[in-house]
Amino acid sequence: MTDREEMTIAPNGEPMELQPKWRRDFPVDWPQDHYVARRDFTKFMVLTSFAFLAGQAWIVLQNLLRQRRGVPPLRRIAGIGQLPVGGSLAFNYPGEHDTCLLVRIGDDSYVAFDQRCTHLSCAVIPEPERGRFLCPCHNGWFDIETGKPLAGPPRRPLARIRLEIVNDEIYAAGVELSTI
Ligand code: FES
Repeated sequence: MTDREEMTIAPNGEPMELQPKWRRDFPVDWPQDHYVARRDFTKFMVLTSFAFLAGQAWIVLQNLLRQRRGVPPLRRIAGIGQLPVGGSLAFNYPGEHDTCLLVRIGDDSYVAFDQRCTHLSCAVIPEPERGRFLCPCHNGWFDIETGKPLAGPPRRPLARIRLEIVNDEIYAAGVELSTI
């Protein structure tokens, strides 16, 4: 008996000898085709779930080790490519009330800073097209690459968030406090 998986079945289910010549010359095995698609999809789902679990386990392990060393935790911010060049994204780090900004300043270039202005803590606004963060409260400017003050009342740089890229994901990995 022929294995059903080895049989070629036409879309209308009729035996091949009753199919038109063009279909006999170029048979499409629909059940097999759908079976392969389902199998590939299942394989894809299993692999992506495994990758996700492995990624989560890696973060938990890293954070345990970092905690032991007294180092700030890793926190995922975004996927690589999630932001367009010139785009920005707000996130909280290291605490739930510490708002920071991730800015993509080039194809492979990202920066992140605490959003609080070092003058009187107003929220700065990224203006990557002008190469700066603007603090609208007293017209303070900060360099978008370094966080250093450029103009206005601020005298200290914005606190930089250290970034790590692992498996195409961007993580916050610590805060570098201003040192002027
Ligand atoms: S609070 Fe930002 S310039 Fe004053």
